[in-house]
Amino acid sequence: MKVAMENKHLADKVSLLLDELAAYGAEPGGGVTRLLYDQAWREARLALAERMARLGLEVSVDRTGNTFGRLTGTGPNAEDVIAIGSHLDTVRNGGRFDGAYGISAGLAAVDVLYRAYGPPKKSIEVAAFCEEEGSRFPLVYWGSGSVAGARVLSDAAALEDPDGILFTDAMREAGFGRDDQPVPGRPDWIAFLELHIEQGPVLEALGVSVGIAEAIVGQKRYAIRLIGESNHAGTTPMGMRRDAMAGAAAMVLALEKLALRYGPPMVATAGRLEAYPNTPNVVPGEVVFTADIRHPNGGVLERFCREMEAVFGRIAGGRGLGMAVSLWVDADPVPMDPGLAGMAEAAAAEEGLACIRMPSGAGHDAQMLQAVCPSLLVFVPSRSGISHSPLEYTEPAHLADGVRVMINLLYKLAYEERTPWEWDDGTTI
Ligand code: HGY
Ligand code: MN
Ligand code: MN
Repeated sequence: MKVAMENKHLADKVSLLLDELAAYGAEPGGGVTRLLYDQAWREARLALAERMARLGLEVSVDRTGNTFGRLTGTGPNAEDVIAIGSHLDTVRNGGRFDGAYGISAGLAAVDVLYRAYGPPKKSIEVAAFCEEEGSRFPLVYWGSGSVAGARVLSDAAALEDPDGILFTDAMREAGFGRDDQPVPGRPDWIAFLELHIEQGPVLEALGVSVGIAEAIVGQKRYAIRLIGESNHAGTTPMGMRRDAMAGAAAMVLALEKLALRYGPPMVATAGRLEAYPNTPNVVPGEVVFTADIRHPNGGVLERFCREMEAVFGRIAGGRGLGMAVSLWVDADPVPMDPGLAGMAEAAAAEEGLACIRMPSGAGHDAQMLQAVCPSLLVFVPSRSGISHSPLEYTEPAHLADGVRVMINLLYKLAYEERTPWEWDDGTTI
């Protein structure tokens, strides 16, 4: 089955949807900030629901704010759902493609298929998960994790954002968290497809259009709180300080050094640091910073984190600092479904697109959904590998290539009712 539509038209279709979403949370420098339950998120979700309805989809929402557009099937197994989507939230001042591309591509693909072939046999749902990034509250995959049963409200209820706003207050103010709204959970989903920008340099460097994720790395995120002593910057001799900022700086450099010693594919990042009282002429008495550590092998990841905590403990002890370490993301490495990966490889070949199998260094909703149903994660190239930045960009032709692969897969799964295991050549991931 080849979609009788040239790439330009597909590119225009998906770009229009991306432009529409990027308007919500647009930053002056071209980035986008759309955080769970904030004003931009609420407006984007409403606009998306209206767009879904205009496309003729049945729109539903669960009590977390996950939003679904359904094209109901007409066959005997119409209750089985092929889902396609990604997350609606972004990082702070992030790009316009991360998450939004997977949702927009799902809508574009469903629109093309319905116009060309009418209703499918199995139902198709486009999913916009409410939150994945962990950019506002210290919790990730709230949307897809709730659908997968890996997140429940008690995980989030007491969390606060950096402004001290309680999770449940933000949720209720956005109109969610009500008992009369559907509990998240989709036992009717039989396959989940996520199309995403690679967010790395590999596909562009190899000149390959499509990447198929074989596995998603394990990921741990920590908050490290250091307690020293606030004091006068001018009168406190260097030898009499308990400087929490200097301690944090030593730990951040030690984190980098440890990751370099482990070597690729180990990565570790201190992405956020808050100093108190954050005043130029005061020795910082308290610092909270984050550590984000990732590796495809769970055992290596575990060993690294044990070593990191020991190094941090020695630095804190040597500086007379109190230290509290809290782990708030602990995601195991997740192999993706080999049958769907094989199916995607065949689809790319049919569409005349070069593709490779590769690991995913970024976390994605697909790793949550893999616990619910066979899940697939497909990448298209990112310019210069940049992401989580206003400079995030993917060529329209590459955007269209990804949509073409999704159209091919949705047609096979929902119209021809093919099954992923027909393609499972047994390759271990
Ligand atoms: O951080 C990640 O891996 C993803 O972008 N949430
Ligand atoms: Mn992201
Ligand atoms: Mn993402």
